Amino acid sequence: MAITLSSGFKMPIMGLGVWRVEGNAMKDLVVNAIKLGYRHFDCAADYKNEAEVGEALEFAFQQGLVKREDLFITTKLWNSDHGHVLEACKDSLMKLKLDYLDLYLVHFPIATKHTGVGTTDSALDANGVLEIDTTISLETTWHAMEELVSMGLVRSIGISNFDIFLTRDCLAYSKVKPSVNQIETHPYFQREDLVKFCQKHGICVTAHTPLGGAAANTEWFGSVSCLEDPVLVDLAKNYDKTPAQLALRWGIQRKTVVIPKTSKFERLKENIEVFDFDISAEDMDTIKRMDRKLRTNQPAVFWGIDLFA
Ligand SMILES: NC(=O)c1ccc[n+]([C@@H]2O[C@H](COP(=O)([O-])OP(=O)(O)OC[C@H]3O[C@@H](n4cnc5c(N)ncnc54)[C@H](OP(=O)(O)O)[C@@H]3O)[C@@H](O)[C@H]2O)c1
Repeated sequence: MAITLSSGFKMPIMGLGVWRVEGNAMKDLVVNAIKLGYRHFDCAADYKNEAEVGEALEFAFQQGLVKREDLFITTKLWNSDHGHVLEACKDSLMKLKLDYLDLYLVHFPIATKHTGVGTTDSALDANGVLEIDTTISLETTWHAMEELVSMGLVRSIGISNFDIFLTRDCLAYSKVKPSVNQIETHPYFQREDLVKFCQKHGICVTAHTPLGGAAANTEWFGSVSCLEDPVLVDLAKNYDKTPAQLALRWGIQRKTVVIPKTSKFERLKENIEVFDFDISAEDMDTIKRMDRKLRTNQPAVFWGIDLFA
């Protein structure tokens, strides 16, 4: 199942996110995912594992498991590379061992001090606050992203973690419109206005953290996991599905692309088995009422500044 982007290319509605996947586990994970039917992988320079994804993909191609044109590979421009878009994209392509990307995203609407292409550092000042670069506008960054499309290095370009104000602005200054806005959204953080705004303007929403980060975000950010919510647990039983499957199916039914991450084979299988049932309109409404406006991913924990405040 796929969504046609404004660029004309198709994006599979289910993908595997690879943030916090250890490099040495990557090959088995990607190969198993491909065997199970995953055709979309969500990467980023900042995940510091593009090279391992590249090796896994090369292995899969050599084994004849899949062809390049059957896969949809996303990666992201890191904050410290806004002034070096072409070099950063080429660095990602080199690590991923690809000659084009299906989708390249501006990871965050913020430029930070450049620390060398491929380093993806988040330099902090003496007070422990992120060193923000005030000399590069998002418009300048976006025009450099557009160049990548003209050069044939990237098929579609998009934004990530952009709110309504910044998305609107990007629509105004762009010649090549953003195909995607990748944002945190899940049953505890539904962001209906932003999702609807993007969809109304032809921007596909990809739900990052579609499981609310589950145990990982509880550990990293102290957040509560929607997968343990009694409402979701009970509803899931009615469908003979797991809470994770229900959260993902809910995301798909609201026409968002979902990119859950797991390092576990059983969960890879579980997370993709969401195309054999429908959540009723009544139960979609029940999940809608679960919204807590709870952002579980809190970069401020590491950056000393809440960019979303
Ligand atoms: N653009 C951005 O700024 C941004 C930010 C965050 C994430 N992302 C992207 O979105 C992807 C997903 O986000 P995420 O990894 O933060 O959060 P997530 O996918 O919502 O949750 C991942 C957590 O859920 C667990 N999990 C996976 N499947 C499960 C299941 N069936 N039942 C119970 N727990 C399950 C995982 O543990 P195990 O691994 O142990 O299974 C891990 O702890 C990332 O990998 C990345 O590609 C993008």
